[in-house]
Amino acid sequence: MTQTSPIWHPFTQHAIFPKMHPIVAAEGAWLTDADGARIFDAVSSWWVVTHGHCHPKIVAAIQSQAARLDQVIFAGYTHEPAERFTERLLARVPDRLTRVFFSDSGSTAVEVALKMALGFWRHGGDGRARIVVMENGYHGDTVGTMSAGERGVFNQPYEPLMFGVDRLPFPAPGAEQATLDALEGFARTGQVAALLLEPLVLGAGGMLVYPPWVLAEMAAICARHDVLLIADEVMTGWGRTGTFLACEQAGVAPDILCLSKGITGGSLPLAVTLAREDVYQAHFSTDRAKTFFHSSSYTANAIACAAAEANLAIWDEEPVLDRIAAVSALQAEGAARLKAAPGLTNVRQVGTILAADIATPAGGYMSDLGPGLTRFFADHNLLIRPLGATLYLMPPYCSTGADLSSCHDAMAEAGARFG
Ligand SMILES: Cc1ncc(COP(=O)(O)O)c(C=O)c1O
Repeated sequence: MTQTSPIWHPFTQHAIFPKMHPIVAAEGAWLTDADGARIFDAVSSWWVVTHGHCHPKIVAAIQSQAARLDQVIFAGYTHEPAERFTERLLARVPDRLTRVFFSDSGSTAVEVALKMALGFWRHGGDGRARIVVMENGYHGDTVGTMSAGERGVFNQPYEPLMFGVDRLPFPAPGAEQATLDALEGFARTGQVAALLLEPLVLGAGGMLVYPPWVLAEMAAICARHDVLLIADEVMTGWGRTGTFLACEQAGVAPDILCLSKGITGGSLPLAVTLAREDVYQAHFSTDRAKTFFHSSSYTANAIACAAAEANLAIWDEEPVLDRIAAVSALQAEGAARLKAAPGLTNVRQVGTILAADIATPAGGYMSDLGPGLTRFFADHNLLIRPLGATLYLMPPYCSTGADLSSCHDAMAEAGARFG
């Protein structure tokens, strides 16, 4: 809580931000700090909170599960919360995804996907092992996911640990064909095991958006060349882009799908990697060497699974897509307004996500504007954490018009002040 705390915080430069902000409670789209101030959680606490903080049905499920069965080893054992959640989840994803593997974060969901892809080609195919990714992608901070993500100041010190991947240029407006041609070129070598990408929105890479038709074309190229398509929907899943999965907007059914963040409504850590049946079957054998050798101690933790099942019950029983549509419409109105705001550029909106760049030549994540902007929004009691000079909102689905207009006002003010 103070400068003397021994806690080393994530993605935090303690020399610039020495004092952490103590939060004591949360409800809906709002946090309460230790001084009683209310703060609007405009980034859904790192993109995890969907329906709102402390949704009563999720809280009740956690409480009841915690008193019954907290945790059991998931190798050789199973439990009702995992089974029930899996049944509900499979009803919501494309039919070709038939197998569900649990882990506990977005990074591990992607690591698992990469291992599944290589296992598939090693055990059941021709042993191909190249991975193709998209420029500006982000898939996590473990060594494998850093390798697949954009290289830069974040991971330079760890370069010696990382493996090589093939990179597609980002399909910027007007340059989409170059991306498709590059993919076709890599795929034609017959050495590509999988294409890993974030569908429609590259989140941590700067909220960069590309259209569904490009995703559909990339999926078609993968299908033509037997390249597995791994959709990292860790951020875009659970309604963020307007549909349950972003892939739906392109009519794409991935071969492997990574989900985390909103999986428990934002209450507890959990992740799943879903796979096509033949990916599973390539590992299914009396030969123990073909076992899928991946686990973590808390795999499919029963309390997290109960929260995930309660989350899907909310999806099944409440008008979640209507709420998402309402927030999306408010964000579209905000985008229209911000397009005319001085100092802001590249205003973009996909579903509940709204982003704009401060018009400055010193852009990028390490822009000197970043710390000043973070403080500016904190002074407005808004939890908005810019990606360098990129401002974005990714609010919970219970946010109101008044909540969002105050964010849009603050973004306009930031444009005028910093742009
Ligand atoms: C698209 C994507 N993949 C993976 C991750 C990593 O997730 P986690 O931080 O839960 O490991 C993130 C996190 O922001 C993400 O946005």
